[in-house]
Amino acid sequence: MKDSLLLGLMSGTSLDAVDAAVLKIGANGMSLQGHLNYPIPPSLRAEIAAISHAGDNEIERLGRLDRQLGELFAAAALALLEHTGILKQEVRAIGSHGQTIRHRPPSAQAGGPAFTLQIGDPNCIAELTGITTVADFRRRDIAAGGEGAPLAPAFHAAAFHAPGILRACVNIGGLSNVSLLDTQLSGFDTGPGNTLLDAWIARHKGQAFDNNGAWAARGQVSTRLLEQLLQHPYLHLPPPKSTGKEDFNLNWLDQQISVAACHQLAPVDVQATLTEYTALTISECLPATVQEVYMCGGGALNSHLMQRLQAHSPTATVTTTGALGIDPQWVEAAAFAWLAFQCLEHLPGNNSGVTGASGPRVLGGVFPA
Ligand SMILES: Nc1ncnc2c1ncn2[C@@H]1O[C@H](COP(=O)(O)OP(=O)(O)O)[C@@H](O)[C@H]1O
Ligand SMILES: [Mg+2]
Repeated sequence: MKDSLLLGLMSGTSLDAVDAAVLKIGANGMSLQGHLNYPIPPSLRAEIAAISHAGDNEIERLGRLDRQLGELFAAAALALLEHTGILKQEVRAIGSHGQTIRHRPPSAQAGGPAFTLQIGDPNCIAELTGITTVADFRRRDIAAGGEGAPLAPAFHAAAFHAPGILRACVNIGGLSNVSLLDTQLSGFDTGPGNTLLDAWIARHKGQAFDNNGAWAARGQVSTRLLEQLLQHPYLHLPPPKSTGKEDFNLNWLDQQISVAACHQLAPVDVQATLTEYTALTISECLPATVQEVYMCGGGALNSHLMQRLQAHSPTATVTTTGALGIDPQWVEAAAFAWLAFQCLEHLPGNNSGVTGASGPRVLGGVFPA
């Protein structure tokens, strides 16, 4: 098999940055060739946050934002090429996840047909980079009756599976998802990741995130609030299931604090409780027999959260995907590079056992250079 270079672009629910990574896929497996965080201008971040819930004049705003994000993703790809010295002619394709602005999968039972919507016009990306762009990965899986998510488990299996060892891969982005790399792959969104942690520290300390979980580590976990949060209906759904900010957000948290009559809790104790909540909802999804747990996503850089995960999974080794050769920050972008490759090779991108689709499907639309 000839080596191919694919460039993956990912912007998740955290809105922290666009992650861009170049992945080499060849006979000897996969390896990262370069990566870059590309900043999202604050004005654009505010627009994305605003359009992620119902509002006025949405079609006009959506149309504009779709173009602006397409331009931003193209700029991220070009910056990565500049940074690595890789020429655009060497890149077979860009795989662009897009920015999710709504996720209403079958498991949400929201009434009406299920749908998911990612924006960031791939026509724009192909035009501005001169590189064939593959995008819109999730909707084919939804059309086949699936959740359209999570898609990362199929990549985790391709990159990290080892026969005879029960491994799990956990991605902690805005939300979290787990992949169990057994003889038969399983995986689903576990629930909360960084969104609640980010939102709470932003409100109380004006910081974008709780660096290394240092603030949470100083607080006391409130059992009362934790028990209330653990009642979230999403956590009790059977897989296949997927979630979004629609389910876990600051409004919901405020309601829960109110229901549990926890208004008097110090903000630092709420942060500690939220961190414990993230750790617990993940570890409860891991079977007792799991031997190795590999973390990725921004949450893998939160050392306090990592310690809490290890505490809840005492018999497993908890480390990051860095130990398997892909730095935790770039796994999601690498997954979309791989998905672009799968599409161009006419290979399935989903795992229907994970998403609940009626079968394997080639995912993504191709926008030629
Ligand atoms: N050093 C760190 N300490 C704690 N949290 C971190 C650290 N670095 C990143 N994060 C968290 O990771 C988040 C970004 O994770 P990411 O995987 O990019 O999520 P998404 O896919 O939603 O964009 C940040 O918003 C932040 O909460
Ligand atoms: Mg991110």
